[in-house]
Amino acid sequence: MSGDFDSHGWRMRVAAARGTGRSGLTLAGGMVLNVFTGQLEEKSVSIADGRITAVGGAGGTAEIVDCRGKIIAPAFVDPHIHTESSLLWMPEFARAVIPHGTCAIVTDPHEIANVAGLPGLAAMRAAAVGLPIHIRFTAPSCVPASAYESPGAKFGAEQISEMLAWPETVGLGELMNVAGAVSGDRIIGEKLHAASGRRKDGHAPGVGSLRLQAYLQSGVTSDHESTELAEARAKLELGLFIMIRQGTTERNLEALLPLVDDWTWPRCAFCSDDRDCFTLKHDGHVDAIVRDAIAGGMDPFRAYRLATFNPADYWRLDGIGAIAPGYEANLNILTDFEKVEIESVLFQGQTVASRGEMVVDLPENRPPDFLLDTMHVAPLSTASFRLEPAHAKKAIVVYDGQIVTGVQNVDPVVVDGQAVTDVESDFLKVACIERHNATGRVGVGYVRGFGLQRGAIASSIAHDAHNIVVVGVSDEDMLAAVEHVVSMKGGLATVADGTVIADLPLPIGGIISDQTLAAVSERLEHVEQSANDLGCRLTSPFGLLAFMALSVIPKGRVTDKGFVPVA
Ligand SMILES: [Fe+2]
Repeated sequence: MSGDFDSHGWRMRVAAARGTGRSGLTLAGGMVLNVFTGQLEEKSVSIADGRITAVGGAGGTAEIVDCRGKIIAPAFVDPHIHTESSLLWMPEFARAVIPHGTCAIVTDPHEIANVAGLPGLAAMRAAAVGLPIHIRFTAPSCVPASAYESPGAKFGAEQISEMLAWPETVGLGELMNVAGAVSGDRIIGEKLHAASGRRKDGHAPGVGSLRLQAYLQSGVTSDHESTELAEARAKLELGLFIMIRQGTTERNLEALLPLVDDWTWPRCAFCSDDRDCFTLKHDGHVDAIVRDAIAGGMDPFRAYRLATFNPADYWRLDGIGAIAPGYEANLNILTDFEKVEIESVLFQGQTVASRGEMVVDLPENRPPDFLLDTMHVAPLSTASFRLEPAHAKKAIVVYDGQIVTGVQNVDPVVVDGQAVTDVESDFLKVACIERHNATGRVGVGYVRGFGLQRGAIASSIAHDAHNIVVVGVSDEDMLAAVEHVVSMKGGLATVADGTVIADLPLPIGGIISDQTLAAVSERLEHVEQSANDLGCRLTSPFGLLAFMALSVIPKGRVTDKGFVPVA
């Protein structure tokens, strides 16, 4: 699928396929999954130069691997993910997903783009070099996500054009600014122009009817934001390719399973969007989605197709996602088809993972120094978290397991002329602190649903601009939590009674760890638990905290510019 053409390798494969030469490796005796016909048949799979030379009826070969009793399936493809959400730098991300059978992802690196612009994206690209997985990019379309957000870098049409020229860039990333797209916004128009002729990924949560038809004038052809069946069906009817998302927080598979029927299956795929390292380690990646889909009643052949060929085909990743002559030999060897039990993973014909572990060394690909120093915060005090009663007439309401929020009209509790928190009624404060350019801007509002009984939790993962977001009971603890995040050069922190009780440093851009999958996963679990220990009722307190400032998801947010209603 790269643009490179190796004539020597091609001639070698031609000879092997014709029987006048030899393949390097033949997998023999296994049941081979054909995602085009929906069949499992015992056939040999021969490989040379990283690609499949023959399926069945192979000629000579240098090595035979006995696959009797095993299933040979194409490796998985994730058509929409943000690797930053794993909290892992690219080599550790690869270590997290490859043993789960993933051979290709299309990532929209808009988290790093918000922090560090094109230089940050170039660093991500460099970090992916040499990994035994295809890392493909979409060019972020919405940095900033809206005019209410204050990112650390500009990413306009000029930067999009530059990124689209990379061979690893497959199209334009999720078009989240629906308001801009349906109003004919000039800047959106410039970005769409820059991406003329390229695939465009959509992002239209809850958008229907005439508004959706106006949105589709942008030329987007996919969407991964449906949470209800009717919404997904309406989008599919209007031509969108539906990516059924099953992330850490957003889990839409169960609701959308009935969408996939005898007519619609070619227009669907699975994606993970945002999966943190704990979920990747303990649940899995695309393998887990396929497992859940089959357990939920989806035909297994169809489930594999939605996880292999369909996502590859959507992004025009020719030569991956199936087992056929000329395709890359990116294969999962399974011991159980329906439970998706993966024994080993081959990338371009080489075994790269076995029994859940990598078996090849990965390049270290360290991040550049500029990505390790991105916290620029003006001095703060408890006064930074004051909430004027006039700005406390509405509270954001969070719901467990959903990034969509509600908005509730409230009568603020006022003490000494300031709106204050009320633990009994679960009125806490949420604040967003600008942290890229030390402007001193802080937005403060009310939030319900976190349920903290004391203390505060803060995070420099704050989609999409990645300022610092904090929810707390007391201004003192909110201040202490934010100051600790700054001292770590980014990360997550829980504070109670002025003391840090758990943290997770994220020094790469303030959003990614420089540590291993195992270490980050353990520390993430600990810091999430610490918030629950303070009374938070949410399954993933920091997972939802990270979305409190995302001004493009309904219905209410607080950014550094204050409360933002979202239609
Ligand atoms: Fe996304």
